[in-house]
Amino acid sequence: MDVLTAINKRREITRFKNTPIPQDLLEKLTQALYLSPTGNNLPSREFVLLTNKDTLTQLSTATPYVKWLEQATAAVVIIGNPDVSKYWLQDASIAGGYLWLASVSSDLGAAWGAIYHSEDHEESIKREDYVRHLLEIPEHLRVVAIIGLGYPDIDPAPKEMYLVDSVLHLEKYIANTTN
Ligand SMILES: Cc1cc2nc3c(=O)[nH]c(=O)nc-3n(C[C@H](O)[C@H](O)[C@H](O)COP(=O)(O)O)c2cc1C
Repeated sequence: MDVLTAINKRREITRFKNTPIPQDLLEKLTQALYLSPTGNNLPSREFVLLTNKDTLTQLSTATPYVKWLEQATAAVVIIGNPDVSKYWLQDASIAGGYLWLASVSSDLGAAWGAIYHSEDHEESIKREDYVRHLLEIPEHLRVVAIIGLGYPDIDPAPKEMYLVDSVLHLEKYIANTTN
């Protein structure tokens, strides 16, 4: 599947079949993470690949919004390292996007679980620490997100989008007076 087809097909999938993801496919997905670009080409993000069902279940309570991890057959925890680069958050986010599209192009579904919270430091540390302790992630690393993976058990309808003109400006910024 070419990348534009994957972009058009991509939805968040939060219901998964029990079918395990083959090892060679998991390796392709990890390659997508590994090859994702970073600012100054610095490796400011790291990944923990998980397939252990008990761990996935435990992670499903990391925030109230990742319950679907109970059903996922794999997940990737994306970690940022602020000591390596000031772009750690962008680098981690791009890696997540690469993983999501690589999953779609392989007929897998993916869901994004936000762990890092930019507006509520206390909440962020609470969520991050929960994941940190479970996976033995060192203190100086930030836990950005958990991407749940699996074969989709749902086929969502194409999503209703807002007008492209409300977010896309040509040649210069034109304020939208209708919103
Ligand atoms: C930065 C970011 C954080 C997100 N956090 C969560 C989350 O914690 N839990 C969840 O179920 N979905 C989460 N999502 C998924 C979005 O809610 C979802 O992508 C959005 O509603 C659009 O739906 P679509 O992916 O089907 O287009 C997140 C997505 C992004 C990009």
